[in-house]
Amino acid sequence: MKDMYILGIESSCDETSASIVKNGTEEIATVISSQIDVHKNYGGVVPEIASRHHVKNITMVLEECLEKANMKMEDIDGIAITYGPGLIGSLLIGLEAAKTLSFVYNKPLIPVHHIAGHIYANSLVQPLKFPLLAVVVSGGHTELIVMKDHYQFEKIGGTLDDAIGECYDKVARVIGLEYPGGPKVDKLAKEGQDTYKLPIPLQDDSYNFSFSGLKSAVINLAHNEEQRGEEIRKADLATSFQKVAVESITSKVRKAIEEKGIKNVIVAGGVAANNGLRTAMKELTDELGVELSIPPMKYCTDNGTMIAAAGYYAYLDGRTADLNLNSKSQDVLK
Ligand code: KG4
Ligand code: ZN
Repeated sequence: MKDMYILGIESSCDETSASIVKNGTEEIATVISSQIDVHKNYGGVVPEIASRHHVKNITMVLEECLEKANMKMEDIDGIAITYGPGLIGSLLIGLEAAKTLSFVYNKPLIPVHHIAGHIYANSLVQPLKFPLLAVVVSGGHTELIVMKDHYQFEKIGGTLDDAIGECYDKVARVIGLEYPGGPKVDKLAKEGQDTYKLPIPLQDDSYNFSFSGLKSAVINLAHNEEQRGEEIRKADLATSFQKVAVESITSKVRKAIEEKGIKNVIVAGGVAANNGLRTAMKELTDELGVELSIPPMKYCTDNGTMIAAAGYYAYLDGRTADLNLNSKSQDVLK
C-alpha cells in the first residue's frame, strides 16, 4: 500500500496543534502552540480567551508544520480533525480550518474523537495489541475502554462525577499551586509521607470511578487544619492524595484485566504523565503478566500527532465526513 500522510489538527482546549503523521505510526512534523501562560493568570482555561488565541495561532501553526515537514498540502492524503468533545468555541476554530483545507485542496476530512486521539498516541510507540484496555485519564475524562480491534471502542466504566485531572487541579489549588496543578501535585507527592487519612472512593463491583468525595475530603481537611490554626503539610497531603487517587484507578484496572482477558493495557490522556500512576501501572501489569504501553510525556498532553494517528485508522475504517461536519462539545466515543 502507498504511504499515507495525515495532517492532524487539535484545538479542543488550550493547545493549537498541527502534525503530519505517516501511516498512523511515524511523526513527520509537529507544532504545538500552548496557551498555558495566558490561562495561568485566571487559575484555569477561560473558553472565550482560548477561542481567540486559536484564531490567532491556527494559520501560523499549520504553515509552520508544513514547513517543518518540508511538504505541501498537495502531499497530504487526509485531514484529521478533533470534532469533540471539548470547548465549543475552540473546537470550531480547528474545524473551520480543517474544512477549508479539505475543500480547497480536495482532501478527505476525517473526524476524530479527542479520546480516540489520546488512545492512538500509543501507536506512535508500538502497534496496539488486542484485546486492549485503554485507561483514559485526563482533565475531562476518566474512562476504561476495551478495544477488540482498531476503532472498536467499548466503554466499560467511567467517572460518575469529576475527572481525575480535574480533581488533581482542584487539590493543587487548595494547597496553593498554580494552574495546571496536576504536574505540581505529582512532583510534591515525591517529597512527602502518606500521613493524611483520605477515603478510597467507590470500592464497589463496577468499573466506575468517583472523585468528588475525595476532592471534598481534601478541601475539608485543609479547612479544618486552617481553623485549628495549623498549617497543612503540603507535601504529605499531596502524597496521601496521590496514593488514594492512583489506587482507585489501579483497583478497577486490575478487575478489568482479570475479567476481560486483556493482553495489553495502555494509559492515555494528560494524567498518563503522572509518575505515581505510571509506577503503579507498571507494577500491576508486571504482576499480572500483561503488556503496558504509556506514551512518552510529550504525547500525553493534547497534540495534533495523536489526532493524525487516530485519523489514519479512522480513515482505514471508512470514517470520513463531508463539509456539514460540526463540532460537538460532548460526544460518546464509538
Ligand atoms: O489530556 P489533557 O492535556 O487535556 C484534557 O483533554 O483534559 O489533560 C490535562 C490534565 C490536567 O488536569 C492536568 O493537571 C493533568 O492532565 N496532568 C496531570 C499531570 N500532568 C498533567 N495530573 C497529574 N499528574 C501529572 N503529572
Ligand atoms: Zn486531552
